[in-house]
Amino acid sequence: MARPILDIRDLSVSFATPRGSVEALRDVSLTVPQDSIVGIVGESGCGKTTLISTVLRLLAYNATVKSGEIVFEGENVLAMSDERLRDLRGRQVAMVFQDPMTALNPVLSIATQMLDIQYREPIPTTEKRRRAIDMLRRVGIPDPEHRLEGYPHHFSGGMRQRISIAMALLMNPALLIADEPTTALDVTLEAQIIRLLRDLKREFKGSILFVSHNLGLIAELCDEVVVMYAGEIVEQGSVRQLFHDARHPYTRLLLECDPARIEKASRHLPTIAGNLPDLAHLPGGCIFAPRCPRVHEPCRREAPQNYAASKGHDVRCFLVRDG
Ligand SMILES: Nc1ncnc2c1ncn2[C@@H]1O[C@H](COP(=O)(O)OP(=O)(O)O)[C@@H](O)[C@H]1O
Ligand SMILES: [Mg+2]
Repeated sequence: MARPILDIRDLSVSFATPRGSVEALRDVSLTVPQDSIVGIVGESGCGKTTLISTVLRLLAYNATVKSGEIVFEGENVLAMSDERLRDLRGRQVAMVFQDPMTALNPVLSIATQMLDIQYREPIPTTEKRRRAIDMLRRVGIPDPEHRLEGYPHHFSGGMRQRISIAMALLMNPALLIADEPTTALDVTLEAQIIRLLRDLKREFKGSILFVSHNLGLIAELCDEVVVMYAGEIVEQGSVRQLFHDARHPYTRLLLECDPARIEKASRHLPTIAGNLPDLAHLPGGCIFAPRCPRVHEPCRREAPQNYAASKGHDVRCFLVRDG
């Protein structure tokens, strides 16, 4: 098998807080193969943003990487110098955030930002400008020749997200990381960005690590899916395995809560009963046991390992171990 773009091994990250140490990630392992799209799903607070912030080393000041490795194209990200890191973020890994303003500088024109991001390209400014205009057109910004001179505040939220996607693609990264890129948008804009991501999927050459709570979107865009719960990966496998043969009770509940699968429109989305455990005071046993409809004898006593349901389909649940 070819070397993966990204290989995360046994990663544990905690945050120091007045309440004690918040164990936000515990022994997380995942691989992003070349030319593939890996999706991460899980309720809010499960550690998705912490995981991708660790990959880019953009963690909050109170975070500690307690153990593990993050290997990007054979190189350990956790051991990179600041200079090497800047290079990584500026050239090989691009990021699209939930809030597009995170990526855009409010006081610089879109033109300046889109030229700056191409600083490494050995091509004249006129050519960089032409590429910026082309890219804006590709992501659906009307009249890009003129809009290029605008500032972020001249654009709607949906347009700003298109621009930040255009900027990420201009870098032509080996890995694109998107953290809930549609969550801050209203439903109409969300649908537009989803359509854009679908179209781009066909053209984009690199790998994508895609965080979303929109399961329909994950099913459509991704090759592999990783399900996170309270700082752990509880199930991972191909899209087919996850959507047709989910084994972890948490994954099954997530699928049942998916608005796309609910027939009757309702103002209140169903949610999984109970709350995430306090990550500063973890319960013993299986992390999901307190909320699990299938909790049984070993679950509260002992923490499950990963068990293979089939080739490439791993589940952290005793139900799979015991058949
Ligand atoms: N800087 C921080 N200090 C303390 N706790 C944090 C910090 N950042 C995140 N957390 C906690 O870590 C957990 C995971 O958060 P996060 O990675 O943002 O989850 P998600 O992106 O899945 O919603 C949550 O319990 C959150 O409260
Ligand atoms: Mg998040």
